[in-house]
Amino acid sequence: MDLFDKCFAFTRVEDVKSVGLYPYYHPITETEGPVVYMNNQRMIMVGSNNYLGLTHDPRVKKAAIDAINKYGTGCSGSRLINGSLDIHFKLEEALAQFVGKEAACIFSTGYQTNQGAIVPLIKKGEYIISDAENHASIIQGTLIAKALCGDSILVKFNHNDMTDLEQKISSLPYEAGKLIVVDGVFSMNGHITPLPQIVAIAHKYNARIMVDDAHALGVIGTGGRGTASHFNLTDETDIIMGTFSKSLASSGGFIASSERVINYIKHHAPAIIFNASMPASNAASALKALEIIQKEPERIQKLHYNAHRLRKGLSELGFSVLPGETPIIPVLIGDDFMTFALWKKLFDYGVYSNPIIFPATPQGQQLIRLSVMATHTDEHIDYVIAMFEKAGVELKLLHTVV
Ligand SMILES: Cc1ncc(COP(=O)(O)O)c(C=O)c1O
Repeated sequence: MDLFDKCFAFTRVEDVKSVGLYPYYHPITETEGPVVYMNNQRMIMVGSNNYLGLTHDPRVKKAAIDAINKYGTGCSGSRLINGSLDIHFKLEEALAQFVGKEAACIFSTGYQTNQGAIVPLIKKGEYIISDAENHASIIQGTLIAKALCGDSILVKFNHNDMTDLEQKISSLPYEAGKLIVVDGVFSMNGHITPLPQIVAIAHKYNARIMVDDAHALGVIGTGGRGTASHFNLTDETDIIMGTFSKSLASSGGFIASSERVINYIKHHAPAIIFNASMPASNAASALKALEIIQKEPERIQKLHYNAHRLRKGLSELGFSVLPGETPIIPVLIGDDFMTFALWKKLFDYGVYSNPIIFPATPQGQQLIRLSVMATHTDEHIDYVIAMFEKAGVELKLLHTVV
């Protein structure tokens, strides 16, 4: 057997391409945020996590350009040694203050943040208790911790199922250190984690709580401060994690917690110590986006207004839209072929959406994941609804011809 045999045997992509349904790696040649261009075709983008539309804000772009002029394009060293810029510290202070924690530390990506924070926190004899639908970066972090510490440390509970969480955690030794990790807003279905119940369970069973707010920052909570703020449980949430690749219009991630916890992670996380620090332009754009979010809360209102209009429009057509209060709008389809077929029709009609199949979503719950931005106009949303109607009728997905 040759190592690469598996690569040669993997022909699924060619199979799907041959019937014209391959939905991945399509190059965007130009983008204005809510509108993008692919193959010279104008498309309404409803598949991006650019929730507040700040990636194209002139102030955010200028902050990035100014930072390049001042600091250059890369850092070429880790935060620990030669790669710490004053702007990294400024951003950390601003993030900690925004989410209501003593301190924060940034990582080069959100993905790395979850891995990076979880691994050094868990030692042999301690436990990670993780929601079954947590983001892949949390899963990877828990698997690395498990490999380093031994078999029994990872406990999964059924998605948002507090009975299962309590059952599982109650069987662990009370004195052992425990970390309950959850997405604040789940990326595929938009569910919000039941934080009040998690806090009660954590108190009862001696556990700490980490919430991944990738899809919650700039979206829910007072002024977009995320899940803990949404439930008024900031003090009870031990670690708040966030990414810059969504509302913060950049790339990178952070965790915020008590000063002692952040200090520990900064000196123990291989993901910080052995990784070149974030380019100044990323830090500057995230910092500027954070400033704008606080000055212009009306952006968050517009985001929810757009989400409500799209959700309502698709539901009224007869699509099975999963209920929710976030800008993530999952349209349930239920099988791979029909999900790809709808995605393709929408694509041809100038609507860019995301087809989600197993393992990103459980079998039978294949869906088209839509996400809106504050910068979508009423005309953009109306166009998306109209194209869903056209495609839905053509594919006989709609029960009634509207
Ligand atoms: C819930 C969640 N956590 C973490 C990440 C990783 O963040 P990034 O893409 O910014 O590295 C994502 C991004 O897809 C996410 O959805």
